[in-house]
Amino acid sequence: MKTEQPPVIRLSDYTAPAFRIERTDLTFDLDPERTLVEARLDIARTDGDAQSLALDAEGMELLDLQLDGRALDAAEFRLDQDVLSIAEVPERFTLSAKVAIDPQSNTRLEGLYRSNGVFCTQCEAEGFRRIAPSIDRPDMLSRYRVTIRADKASCPVLLSNGNLVDSGDLEGGRHYAVWEDPFPKPSYLFALVAGDLAWIPDRFTTKSGRDVDLRIYVEHGNEARARYAMEALKRSMRWDEERFGLEYDLDIFNIVAVSDFNMGAMENKSLNVFNAKYILADPETATDADFAAIESIVGHEYFHNWTGNRITCRDWFQLSLKEGLTVFRDQEFTADMRSRPVKRIQDVRMLRARQFPEDAGPLAHPVRPDSYMEINNFYTATVYEKGAEVIRMLHALLGEEGFQKGMRRYIERHDGQAVTCDDFVAAMAGANDVDLDHFKLWYSQAGTPEVTAEGHYDGAAKTYSLSLTQRTPPTPGQAKKSPLMIPLSVALIDPEGGNQTLTLAGEDRGEETVLHLTQDRQTFTFENVPRAPKPSLNRGFSAPVRLTQPLARTDLAFLMAEDTDPFARWEAGQQYACDLLLEMIEAIGRGEAAEADPAFVEAMGRTLTNDDLDEAFRAQVMVLPSEEYIGEQMKTVDVDAIHAARETLKRAIADRLYDDLLAAYEGRRDNEPFAPTAEQAGRRALKNACLGLLVASGTADSAELARLQYDTANNMTDRMAAMALLTAYGLLRRR
Ligand code: BES
Ligand code: ZN
Repeated sequence: MKTEQPPVIRLSDYTAPAFRIERTDLTFDLDPERTLVEARLDIARTDGDAQSLALDAEGMELLDLQLDGRALDAAEFRLDQDVLSIAEVPERFTLSAKVAIDPQSNTRLEGLYRSNGVFCTQCEAEGFRRIAPSIDRPDMLSRYRVTIRADKASCPVLLSNGNLVDSGDLEGGRHYAVWEDPFPKPSYLFALVAGDLAWIPDRFTTKSGRDVDLRIYVEHGNEARARYAMEALKRSMRWDEERFGLEYDLDIFNIVAVSDFNMGAMENKSLNVFNAKYILADPETATDADFAAIESIVGHEYFHNWTGNRITCRDWFQLSLKEGLTVFRDQEFTADMRSRPVKRIQDVRMLRARQFPEDAGPLAHPVRPDSYMEINNFYTATVYEKGAEVIRMLHALLGEEGFQKGMRRYIERHDGQAVTCDDFVAAMAGANDVDLDHFKLWYSQAGTPEVTAEGHYDGAAKTYSLSLTQRTPPTPGQAKKSPLMIPLSVALIDPEGGNQTLTLAGEDRGEETVLHLTQDRQTFTFENVPRAPKPSLNRGFSAPVRLTQPLARTDLAFLMAEDTDPFARWEAGQQYACDLLLEMIEAIGRGEAAEADPAFVEAMGRTLTNDDLDEAFRAQVMVLPSEEYIGEQMKTVDVDAIHAARETLKRAIADRLYDDLLAAYEGRRDNEPFAPTAEQAGRRALKNACLGLLVASGTADSAELARLQYDTANNMTDRMAAMALLTAYGLLRRR
């Protein structure tokens, strides 16, 4: 065990590498306990001053070291503290290092390891240095050629990045394969897989006519369970062409599902490696949420081919350059494949549950951190989810067309490079001829901004003025905060429903506009407003802020029914429910009876029966804020009171809406042949939301419905939903 503190790595200390590894030629002789790796590196000096060469090399035994074919003697190099240094090297040279590593006892799941007898690698962020001596940093782009030799019986499948260029038999029951990746890549995208795996094949033709062989490798017997992932892969490839104009760039794309994997999945060039739980699915074991997760992760890793692989990160401080952008892309993919409002609601729920607390706590850090000790601890909700929100704000500022113009500029300018978040923003700004300097503060300033809004209608002047303030609370190491550039999407809802037309400083802004809040406080005055409107603010959650506005219950009820933005509509309902629940919790605390507000229940009823709204969205509205979320709004958390209030409100809803809930449930009860489609998933979600409320009412009939659903369900979603209710309410039948 190491006891000394690792050194702090700082963004401000970044220097470009002093050497370039033009080619990386690797030969693996695979053996579970003693794998031999030979790395031949074609190296050129880029910084004239650099005398010595330092290579990263961890957990390996060095067997041989040659420079331009000459074996180096012990005085010419040093292997010390995970660094292999060679004191003097020429301008250009070939370094050849032979090492031995032990995959079988590698339990870190970093570098080369074994998972159920399959050899497999994980190199991001700094795992490649456990495979071969290398300059293991993301700005070191090299062309790879990989030879794999292994026992043919136990390892019939030999995979690495790029194209298979040669293969054949060797003596002693061994065989080999040679892979060549034409695209220069950083070491973190290297991958090797070897083992006895089954696969399912498929094909995809890109829009410019390239035929791509697709394969998903799984353990024998799991082939059928990979079909859904394969369909999701093809949808991802089509979507990236249609929405982003980005085509796949090789003739082969492989996915391997392994049972031991630290993360969800990894985007290695043309050889994605997945945790098997994000590939394998069937109706017997996977819920609708599991299918949706598979689709989104398959998409995410595929989308990295452009945003991450073709254009990669200069250093790990820029992690959000690839992760924030790729999460944004996978969110948009899901939004286009399924219900857009529901996807937004789920992402905001998750942001509030995971990233807001991170940003408010001792581990708060900016989207682009400026120092770290261990990079593996920086794959955070802030880098990923807030990073995606930052990209989404650019999208809100520039619009889809402007954003895509920026993407095209980014790719034209930086394809084949390792770049920074600043480069990305510069491409967006340049392509749209706008100044985004102020906006960039989102990358360096931590903390969730608090925005307050107060509206005032002047009936005589026919103006509506909206006064906004912003403040970001201090975070560790950042006591002073500056105002950010916050894009706030707004509309003014007419008392009779529908959006009013917006005029700001004489300019027609249509029915919805994005206000640029740039100062501590600012007032926007809308002109020609005929009737007192209700403001619909931060529509679609255009900015990741905490918004406070003095809205009465009647306003919330109105917005819950009339807001033209489905996200804002859901938000109004959640805020209404939250206010109500907090009031009920206080009453319970005083020993009084908690009363549910009938106006809220009625508003819910209108949503339930509104067939213009999609079913998945209605299901979201029918679910009350979670106990955790309510707890977060309280100074002292009284868990029993929270639970009691929430159950009381559910019962009140169920009592008043019993017939509607029952009709909505019965109308969706028939088991159609199961398909993991968005449409069916939405129907099941609404059905199960209704069942949840019905069971909360405590009637014997509803308990019987839940038991019947448990017994007759033809899919895991329905069975789990029923089981959760039966256990939560103690309704399991004794047999
Ligand atoms: N590049 C990451 C996987 C990764 C992260 C590998 C950290 C090594 C260290 C991959 O693209 C990723 O982000 N995967 C996510 C899922 C994704 C849908 C957000 C994961 O594995 O959780
Ligand atoms: Zn990723």
